[in-house]
Amino acid sequence: MDINDFEKWVFKDFKIDLSAYKSNQLHRRILSLMSRVGVKSIDEYVELLKKDKDQRQKFLDFITINVTEFFRNPEIFDDLSKSIEKELLPYNKNLKIWSAACSIGAEPYSIAMILEKLAGSGNHKIIATDIDNTILERAKKGEYALSEVKNVKQDFVSKHFSINNEKYILSSKIKSMVTFKKHDLILDNYEKDFDLIVCRNVVIYFNQDIKNVIYRKFSESLKKGGLLFVGATESIYNYKEYGFEKASTFIYKKI
Ligand SMILES: C[S@@+](CC[C@H](N)C(=O)[O-])C[C@H]1O[C@@H](n2cnc3c(N)ncnc32)[C@H](O)[C@@H]1O
Repeated sequence: MDINDFEKWVFKDFKIDLSAYKSNQLHRRILSLMSRVGVKSIDEYVELLKKDKDQRQKFLDFITINVTEFFRNPEIFDDLSKSIEKELLPYNKNLKIWSAACSIGAEPYSIAMILEKLAGSGNHKIIATDIDNTILERAKKGEYALSEVKNVKQDFVSKHFSINNEKYILSSKIKSMVTFKKHDLILDNYEKDFDLIVCRNVVIYFNQDIKNVIYRKFSESLKKGGLLFVGATESIYNYKEYGFEKASTFIYKKI
């Protein structure tokens, strides 16, 4: 089996489309994982993945890279907060928001805290999705380590977390503002009528063709005037092609 056969096998067995990821980077990563695991060939690795549940999870974690934290790039979140206040709330009191590829929930919960401050917990709908069921279970729990909440401002910490055994436990009020669902950005359909879509630090792993499809679909999923918030290394240079104008450095507005 070569690496292309391996991709086909992964698609059949894991329902993950590896052909969407940047291939050189991905192949290097898979080979380095194999050497860490101690297998010498792709065939040997497939046999291991067929029978070993822990190795399957390890492979999934490795492919999906779910590093995250609350208010990742805090200064950019300040921009987002201003945009929600000035561009969205004056026109609509109940916002529909999608945090796509949300990992363990730090991102959608950060947005929930901002929204609660600006407009109360109200009737907003925050949908948070990821391809990885295991991390979605962690997200629903709402328990975090200090390293994950280090960017949360002190007034938010005291208002929305309780601390127990060095764990930061999120309030049920903020938890209740977010609904988690499994969703694959490559294979699944996108819901419509969002005021805000937040998708950060995942499209960097995808090839340009897939990025084009994803940005086009985000644009179709946004209401007119809706915002797309991207990661700090993910500026979209051809934003006009998708029907966006620039609202701020990492925020695009659907025209
Ligand atoms: C690096 S994390 C980003 C988390 C958060 N958005 C942030 O910026 O802090 C990338 C996330 O993308 C998810 N992911 C990877 N491929 C995906 C796909 N095809 N569809 C949906 N989520 C995916 C991973 O499971 C992981 O949780």
